[in-house]
Amino acid sequence: MALANIYQRKELLNNIILHSMGFENMYSARLKRIRSSEIRELLEISQKLGVISFAGGLPNPKAFPVNDIKEIVNKILEEEPVKALQYGATGGLAEFREELVKYVKKHGIETKFDELFITVGSQQALDIVGRVFIDEGDVIFVALPTYLGAINAFLAYGAKLVGVPLDENGMRVDLLEEKIKELKKKGEKLKMIYTVPTFQNPAGVELSEERRKRMIELANEHNLIIVEDEPYERLRFEGKPLRAIKSYDTEGRVIYMTTFSKILAPGFRLAYVIGGEEFSKKMVLAKQSMDLCAPGFTQAIAYHYIKNGYIEKHIPKIIEMYKRKRDIMLSALDEYFPPGCKWTKPKGGMFLWVELPKHISTIEMLSDAINEKVAYVHGKAFHVDGSGENTMRLNFTNPEDEMVREGIRRLANVIKKRI
Ligand SMILES: Cc1ncc(COP(=O)(O)O)c(C=O)c1O
Repeated sequence: MALANIYQRKELLNNIILHSMGFENMYSARLKRIRSSEIRELLEISQKLGVISFAGGLPNPKAFPVNDIKEIVNKILEEEPVKALQYGATGGLAEFREELVKYVKKHGIETKFDELFITVGSQQALDIVGRVFIDEGDVIFVALPTYLGAINAFLAYGAKLVGVPLDENGMRVDLLEEKIKELKKKGEKLKMIYTVPTFQNPAGVELSEERRKRMIELANEHNLIIVEDEPYERLRFEGKPLRAIKSYDTEGRVIYMTTFSKILAPGFRLAYVIGGEEFSKKMVLAKQSMDLCAPGFTQAIAYHYIKNGYIEKHIPKIIEMYKRKRDIMLSALDEYFPPGCKWTKPKGGMFLWVELPKHISTIEMLSDAINEKVAYVHGKAFHVDGSGENTMRLNFTNPEDEMVREGIRRLANVIKKRI
């Protein structure tokens, strides 16, 4: 059976299962707002079928510091097993938080113990933000395109998501200002700006220094919260690190979050959030009923990973590998993609963004691509206004080097047939 048929059959089966059990009235309004994650479904299928997948947001397995983790785990189990295996405080292990306060200072953020807390991945942090701040109809400004997991987390709480276009310097803050003014005039309840400033998921672009400063000015002026989500900032291949928006925040309105998923291992499910003191207290309260506390075991490992300097030795190795893969993808794009296609040239992170000629739908093209054993995520999934049908996100970190090149060659053939 052709691969695309398998994909379509699975969708059909899912629909039949979802609609035939007679339980529709049981589900909450919140659940009904959540879109199924096309990326997860696609990943599942492509893993089974030997497809070269540019679809997921997966780190490369070779980037996991397995030997470091073994060493640290042995140390923990010999020296302080109870701390790692017992329930802990909702905000996180005290020594880990203290260590993180020092660590972020080295990277330009001044914070205090009470402002920083640990979460089960940044995804949980986004859900906590929704639970604490979002009421039905609250406006949240997001980039066009933006991270799908944030779209889902915020929609679940009834947010009204308003898209702001981005370019190679990140979200267009001039257009953000226009939209703020326009919606304010209409009496909408403006609540928040959500941004992934550095090597954005999905577009790979970086918010410029000037725009970071303007964004915080706008937030102060219009009483908005900024959620600054930074999973990729340490995966910088070139250029000077920029200051976090949080570092310009004098009023405690920026909620900064970052994760260990891309610099240690996503299986750890560990991230941390730095809000103002007031916001952090409320968010920790909300977290209590979600999980009591993040896993002590992975917190203890991550604590040693930072404190004993493993992290600073390991990150350059990830960067070297990912930069090489980015370069392979960029040169393959130059070589194989037909005229009329454009793509971003990220200076770090895990993704690049492709724009095809206007008449090509990357949704319709996906079944052709899967038949050719290559997968991507269509760009419409990341657009809250339903646009972006001729765009797609490509992940360059997960496939092996030679597969990156081969995958782009196959994808180019699929596109050429549509042109
Ligand atoms: C922008 C962004 N935010 C949050 C997350 C979720 O990360 P975590 O694994 O920490 O839950 C991701 C994961 O890809 C992401 O790209």
